[in-house]
Amino acid sequence: MTYELRDWDIVSGVGITALGVAAARAVETSRADPLVRDPYAADFVRAAESPIPMPAQAEDVADDDLRWSLMSVFLGLRSRHLDEYLLDSCRASGESPGARQVVLLAAGLDSRAFRLPWPEGVTVYEVDQPRVLAFKDAVLARGGAEPGCARRVAAVDLRDDWAAALAGNGFDPAMPTSWLAEGLMPYLPGDAAEQLLTTVHELSAPGSTIAVEYMPGVDSVLADSSAASLSAGLGIDLASLLADSDYDPNAGLAELGWTVDEVTVAQLADRYGRTFDDEHVAELAGNGRYLTARKR
Ligand SMILES: C[S@@+](CC[C@H](N)C(=O)[O-])C[C@H]1O[C@@H](n2cnc3c(N)ncnc32)[C@H](O)[C@@H]1O
Repeated sequence: MTYELRDWDIVSGVGITALGVAAARAVETSRADPLVRDPYAADFVRAAESPIPMPAQAEDVADDDLRWSLMSVFLGLRSRHLDEYLLDSCRASGESPGARQVVLLAAGLDSRAFRLPWPEGVTVYEVDQPRVLAFKDAVLARGGAEPGCARRVAAVDLRDDWAAALAGNGFDPAMPTSWLAEGLMPYLPGDAAEQLLTTVHELSAPGSTIAVEYMPGVDSVLADSSAASLSAGLGIDLASLLADSDYDPNAGLAELGWTVDEVTVAQLADRYGRTFDDEHVAELAGNGRYLTARKR
């Protein structure tokens, strides 16, 4: 487990996982009828010059190579579901005017600030490691990308005082916020995960929401031989990056008084018309979870 590292870039440590998921979004984007359209993902992959080869489009993936095909479906489902969560949480409903602050925790190469149709007045805050965000901004600037919202970048480690970094960028805890922790929980040691959600709670006005991706027992899932070979085949040693944690964010948020709902990846696959033929993959999909929660 290399998580003690403090300063990684886009091709090292946990940083390379951000490139891996961008590659999966690039593959999915280039398919017919994609679950996500991320026009920036391929640019990131091409610019990174990763020591581990990664595809920038479906044509780069051999027909018999199931690894990236599966990753593109998993990442497509995740992107589609969380795109809908974020846009819904910014939409007015009942007495709520909808959130005007969105915080992407561990934003990595997430390009939602640029690719989603945000309502007027939304500010998107992106929090991640300085070198990951510097790479991202350089690629976006080279391509002339313009955000469709106000965008603020907080380059800070999520184990340090990221609340101060957000405040320094204009974040207002008195306003309802839509939070996202996508592809982050599996890497956080239990105490860091608990601290992260406690800080989210302290910074959240009533009506704030959060979506969190997590996988209970992720280390034992990866010990399964087919999951281990999938991860090895991607060229990323996930087992060495994942935290050995049994922290349960669903129970943690409920204890903090939030109302929590949850779907599995398998349920999302049903919702969006995708199927998993392989029994081990179907098991992985049954294990992967997305919770959404609201502060009362
Ligand atoms: C799998 S990527 C997910 C990126 C993005 N959410 C997405 O889905 O495209 C994991 C991200 O978590 C970030 N990360 C992990 N631990 C972090 C920490 N302690 N502080 C800041 N960023 C962290 C990494 O830099 C990386 O960008």
